[in-house]
Amino acid sequence: MHHFHYRDGTLHAEAVPLTTIAEAVGTPCYVYSSATLTRHVRAFADAFADLDARICFAMKANGNKAVLRLVTGLGAGVDVVSGGELALALAAGAPADRIVFSGVGKTEAELGAALQAGVHQINVESEPELEALDAVAQHLGVRAPVAIRVNPDVDAATHAKITTGKAENKFGIEWTSARAVFRRARTMDGIALKGVALHIGSQILDLAPFEAAFLRVRDLVALLRADGVAVERLDLGGGLGVPYHAGDETPPPPTAYAEVVRRTVGDLGCALTIEPGRAIAGNAGVLLSRVIYLKEGITRAFAIVDAAMNDLMRPALYDAWHDIRPVRAPSAGTETRLLDVVGPVCESGDTFARDRTLPPLVAGDLVAFMTAGAYGAVMANQYNGRPLVPEVLVDGDRFHVVRRRPSLDDLAALEDLPPWLLREWP
Ligand code: LLP
Repeated sequence: MHHFHYRDGTLHAEAVPLTTIAEAVGTPCYVYSSATLTRHVRAFADAFADLDARICFAMKANGNKAVLRLVTGLGAGVDVVSGGELALALAAGAPADRIVFSGVGKTEAELGAALQAGVHQINVESEPELEALDAVAQHLGVRAPVAIRVNPDVDAATHAKITTGKAENKFGIEWTSARAVFRRARTMDGIALKGVALHIGSQILDLAPFEAAFLRVRDLVALLRADGVAVERLDLGGGLGVPYHAGDETPPPPTAYAEVVRRTVGDLGCALTIEPGRAIAGNAGVLLSRVIYLKEGITRAFAIVDAAMNDLMRPALYDAWHDIRPVRAPSAGTETRLLDVVGPVCESGDTFARDRTLPPLVAGDLVAFMTAGAYGAVMANQYNGRPLVPEVLVDGDRFHVVRRRPSLDDLAALEDLPPWLLREWP
């Protein structure tokens, strides 16, 4: 469910016409709906209400400060994966004791920053990381609250680039050595061992892989407890998918996901954490763009838009599908045509859609790439000298630019010429 709908023939974000935002902010820009974000956080909170569970929004999906502020204001915590995300979350006002720090390659500096901030939990992914954290914590005179991330070796049945819980993936501690690592962690003075973490992948549309992974963890908890390891917490990761293909994909709702959690690990007496990212932010955002040219090729027709692969990487990177909606609804009876929707970047991979059935777009038309609120703006870059796209948050009938468009001066602001190149041209 989201809040981008046609009203009087124009696509709106909540009560704001996207045409108004395009005029005020320019295109391309990301537009987020507060109502959709709120609805999704509440849907998870309600689904897990009878369980001792904390929702930590995976900010890698959308790290905008205003989004974090909104989500944490609703009681959620944050899952961070770098010192940068930690700093952004704290700057957005996220309480440190609601922050979980995940990631396969945390540096000693990042671990130290997390301990100094007083985060709720650090999810350790390897023995060398455990040793490093132990040393950093002892140096700071604290004990690090740790969950050990295990790799349950289950197939999440999702895109190969976003599956994380198979033995061949780099994530988590290999299943067969998990027990020994827990036993070792228990002896370390800088480590306060709290529990087990896992995350099997992203855009998962079937509950079976979750069920299989959670049952494996259940078995592990029993073995650990038999070894005398206290397991107080379970962090189940994120991964619940969203419908990119309207009408074609029906991801399970948070209630069904919560039911699997309840059935598999609900009776273990553990405090639970879940880390949804995409399911909260995905369809809470669109990328708004304008058609620059319509180019009739010999074999195909191209709608060349002002957004590109650097602004929304998912189609180029994962062949991902995003629905494309014209902002002005076509009048009844308008014939559709097949169009390739492409950006201005100098690569053929800069293609949002091939042979997409669309109304006959013309230069100047606005289009919205749907379900772009997760892994959209956060993955953008400046390739081809294209400044990062601004972000706009809508709330009812008001909107605010929550990340401004950089100026052309900003584009090169971090660059510097070495003195030996400063001489005059010969
Ligand atoms: N927790 C951990 C440890 C993760 O690695 C991830 C995502 C999440 C939570 C959140 O997963 P979600 O609920 O959003 O599925 N860029 C890719 C997705 C990469 C996901 C990486 N990890 C995409 O655009 O599809």
